[in-house]
Amino acid sequence: MNVILRRFECLPSTNDYAKEQRAFGRDMAVLADRQSGGKGTKGRSFSSNLGGLYLTLLRFYENFPASHAFTVMTTAAAAVCKTLEDIGLAPKIKWPNDVYVGGKKICGILIENTFSGNTVRSSIVGIGLNITNELPEDLQDIATSVLEQTGKRYAVDKLAQKLLGYLYDEDTAQTYFSYLGWIGEPIIIVQGDKRIFARLHSVDNQGNLLAEMDGELRRFSAAEISLRVNTQQL
Ligand code: BTN
Repeated sequence: MNVILRRFECLPSTNDYAKEQRAFGRDMAVLADRQSGGKGTKGRSFSSNLGGLYLTLLRFYENFPASHAFTVMTTAAAAVCKTLEDIGLAPKIKWPNDVYVGGKKICGILIENTFSGNTVRSSIVGIGLNITNELPEDLQDIATSVLEQTGKRYAVDKLAQKLLGYLYDEDTAQTYFSYLGWIGEPIIIVQGDKRIFARLHSVDNQGNLLAEMDGELRRFSAAEISLRVNTQQL
């Protein structure tokens, strides 16, 4: 693992900082103690108070087929799960990019790839993991932290080092699938204003969700739907 590490007290967003560094063409890990404008998927914000882990890995590739781009996500989510397992937790992946512990979200991942023709040229893998940070009141029922789940105050640096190591593991997508949660369970697919009740079947190698509804299997991309796993929440 040959990666420069840049550490900041505060950045608007570690992903945005990494994006500015892309022109230099070198792998870089960016860590911030907090973010003033943390970004989530689908244009949402990501609460980034002191005590959480806010890490972005900027990575360059040679000859990485665009058709395999989902493995950037599978590697990142598997790395988070392995880090959490090492401290005794039982993480589950909520397709496509969230990690849950004890039925609540503990980590979100935001990936921003660049492409050159049919290949992935670089990836920006942004990971936000709640460790000892305080969660805003409106998230307290749906989000959790390492502190809440273990009762222990883990140092951000220690978990960041572990996570960074795992991000360079050459896992196959199989590792991601082994952590995938809610298989065979009822889910709600949110598509615009529509709510579709279904059962989670699996995820394919391109990262599409396969859901069973009325005895049929349907395939959805992460761009077109969101997934609700707690069917009580509607
Ligand atoms: C999500 O849950 O919607 C994805 C959240 C991703 C948050 C991380 S924190 C580090 C990196 N910097 C950002 O601005 N976002 C990602």
